[in-house]
Order: sequence, then structure tokens, then C-alpha cells
Amino acid sequence: MTSSMPKPKVFVTRLLPKVAMQRIEQSCEVEFWEKELPPPRKVLIEKVRGAEGLLSLLTDEVDAHLMDEAPHLKVVSNYAVGFDNVDVPEATKRGIMVTNTPGVLTETTADLAFALMMSASRRVPEGDRYVRAGRWKTWGPMLLLGQDVHDATLGIVGMGRIGAALARRAHGFGMEVLYYDIVRQKGVEEELNVAYVSFEKLLKDSDFISVHVNLTPETFHLFGEKEFRKMKNTCTFVNTARGPIVDNIALYHALRNNLIAGAGLDVTEPEPLPSDHPLLALESVVITPHIASASVATRTKMALMAAANLVDGVHGKVPTNLVNPEVQNAFRERKGH
Ligand code: DGY
Repeated sequence: MTSSMPKPKVFVTRLLPKVAMQRIEQSCEVEFWEKELPPPRKVLIEKVRGAEGLLSLLTDEVDAHLMDEAPHLKVVSNYAVGFDNVDVPEATKRGIMVTNTPGVLTETTADLAFALMMSASRRVPEGDRYVRAGRWKTWGPMLLLGQDVHDATLGIVGMGRIGAALARRAHGFGMEVLYYDIVRQKGVEEELNVAYVSFEKLLKDSDFISVHVNLTPETFHLFGEKEFRKMKNTCTFVNTARGPIVDNIALYHALRNNLIAGAGLDVTEPEPLPSDHPLLALESVVITPHIASASVATRTKMALMAAANLVDGVHGKVPTNLVNPEVQNAFRERKGH
């Protein structure tokens, strides 16, 4: 592009790692939202009105109404692998490309899922609170007993990239790994030595259950009272996917009534969880604030990927991580080709 050509206007809904912001600034007229909290809905709509590109976060709802207010929008680059905050079919109808950041956060997210399995089952945060509260008087034979991770059975619901990365970690701990997915994956079964079972069997036989499915209308509240009742009362339940996949109130009752032993949640419904939410009163639940991909290296890779998707999209190139490839037809039609 020559310097005389105007740069495409883009809006970025939060500050990103510097290298990614610089990458966008090189070829776009960019406005970054600099506050800690997301732009309020009204402001977001104002900002996208004249924009050709939007770099959104999972906290920004990109729906049909917003897109109607943004007649020049060519690309929504979501800074996450999940994109349930974007109405993709509506974007496709309008010829708007939607992209995500797959792959780069797989291992980091699996690390946190494993950390939650371990910290909930071995009661690590509870132990830390106990010490800090000055309650540690002596070594006790029955003090803070938890459940072993090694040699236990792990049930993975959703055998995608992150589920597979968790299975690899589990083998290092001598765990038996079961999985359930709507699509059976024979290749993964052989490669990772994981056994495909029904959802029912997974609920019944697992010592640990970790969720790795996308949030869709089909997976909304996939885990409710009925599912928790089928689990072992020694089971630790982990969710690093999306909060609404789990009915938190049912989870609360399951923990409160000792239907399961513990839970590790990186995602909740709603987010953030209000400080008076009943789950926060339970010692047996470990909650982190949606940080599964939050390592310096991974967030930088995600930001560079999202920046590249945004820049490509506004400059008429097909971005690498397009989640709605069928948009290309709609886009051509819109341009009258
Ligand atoms: C994602 O990418 O979808 C995570 O939830 C945040 O990294």
C-alpha cells in the first residue's frame, strides 16, 4: 500500500501485547479501547459504525444488531479460540469474515485444566487458606485428605485439540483416559490410547471429568443435576471451556450434598461470578478468573494471530483462521462480482 492511500479503520476492544498493537498500527488506522472493562454496548456500536475491522474479545457480544450498525465491516477477528460471542451465521449473511485463534493456546489451556484437577482434588487452595488463617497446628493423619490423581480414571468430554493435550498429560500420571465426543475419533484413540465410551459410562466411571466442548445450543447446561447424580462421589469435575455448559446451581447442590468431591472452574455462568454466589462459599471448589490461556507467551501468540487475521481481512485477503469460509461467496455477491 502506498502512503497516500487511506488506511482501513479498525477498532480493537482492549489493549493487547505491544507487538500485536504495533503490527495493527503499521497498516490500519486503529483505535484501541484502553480501559480495563470492555466498551459498553452503546460505545462499541458507535465505534464499529465507520470501521472495516473489529478485533473483539470474548466479552464483546457481536450480534446481528451490531453488524447492522457497521455497514463497512469486513472482518471480526476474535481474540480467542471460542467464538460463541459472535453470531457467525449473521456475519456470514452480511459477508463479514469471522476469525479465531486456534492451536496456539492448546497446551497452555491443558496445563491449567490439569492444574485445576490437581489443586481441587489435592485441596491446594484450601490448604493455603488454612495455613494463612493460622490454623496449622501440627501434622495430622486426617488433615486435608484428598483424592489421588495418579492412576485414576480421567473422563474427557470433547476430544478436540485441548482434550487431546490433556490426555497426553494424564498418561504421564498413569491415568486411564476415557472420552466422549459427538464424533468418535478412531485416529486419536490409537495415537493417545484413549477409550471411547458413552456419555453415561464416562459420568459413571470417571474419577475426574474435564470438559472441552464448544458452547452451542446443544451443549448449554450439558451438565446438570441428572449428570452430577451419575458421577462418583469421589469425582472432581473441571471446566475450562465455557461457563454455560454447566448449570452452576446444580453443581453447587452436587458439591454441597457430597454427590461429587470437588470442582475446578476456570469459567462460570455468569462471568465474573458475583462475590455472593453460593459456589464461593464452598471449600471444595477452586475457581480461577477465565485464565486458562493466560501465559505471557500464549497471549502474545494469540494477539499476533488475531492481529494478522484483522489486517488480512481489512486488506481484502482471506485470513488464515477464517471460521466461516462460506462467507467468501456472500462477500463476492456484496461486492457485485
Ligand atoms: C478462548 O480462547 O476461547 C479462551 O476461553 C480464552 O483464551
